[in-house]
Amino acid sequence: MNIILIGPPGAGKGTQAQKLVVERGIVQLSTGDMLREAQASGSEMGQKVKDIMARGDLVTDEIVIGLIAERLDSGAAGAGAIFDGFPRTLGQADALGEMMASKGLALDCVVAMTVDDDALVARVTGRFTCGNCGEVYHDANKPPKHANTCDKCDAKDSFKRRPDDNEESMRTRLFNYYRDTSTLIGYYHAKGLLKTIDGLGEIEEVAGRMNVALDG
Ligand code: AP5
Repeated sequence: MNIILIGPPGAGKGTQAQKLVVERGIVQLSTGDMLREAQASGSEMGQKVKDIMARGDLVTDEIVIGLIAERLDSGAAGAGAIFDGFPRTLGQADALGEMMASKGLALDCVVAMTVDDDALVARVTGRFTCGNCGEVYHDANKPPKHANTCDKCDAKDSFKRRPDDNEESMRTRLFNYYRDTSTLIGYYHAKGLLKTIDGLGEIEEVAGRMNVALDG
């Protein structure tokens, strides 16, 4: 199954994608994670996108399309993929359609997650992740069971916060989402692939809505 998750920053795309990976045995392709990995590796591309990401702007279509093309070419998405945070522009959406068609792959569903802006800001400013396995947490909504220890991989003192998870970057990220990415909701609706779910509520409640959207 090939799925796109569309939603503003903090909508819960990554959280739900991690659940779908476990439940459905498909891979998560997050361009945000790939770009952060490139930064951590010290690559030239990683250095080039560092400031752009920190202030909440979009990196170029060319870079993110290249990252997704690499993953698709490597066969990593053989059993199916969740595209998390990609595409975000019409150019990226067209490119994804062409790449998938050239490999005989089809998109099964595009799920748009809606959450109001105040809740989004509260979510991203309280977010932290495990630096070892990438599990996503939140100060209030999803704290680890034991302080400083990851529930998933048991790593100690590995939690980190993103430099773009602050109110100023969030304003830019939200602006870019409404200007560039939300137009994809109409794009995929026109293709008959769109489902919309309410992303507010407990994580498990949202997961239930996600499964209804995907299987209904
Ligand atoms: P990216 O990493 O994709 O960030 P994003 O889209 O801004 O999305 P987030 O990761 O902030 O949110 P999410 O929806 O995954 O929420 P999460 O599940 O973590 O991109 C970062 C940057 O990279 C971009 O700004 C851009 O610069 C660049 N980039 C990436 N892709 C690009 C592209 N295609 N084109 C151009 N540039 C690109 O949840 C958030 C928090 O809320 C967590 O703490 C979580 O525990 C909590 N939470 C989740 N669900 C719930 C719930 N139901 N109730 C309460 N809390 C919840």
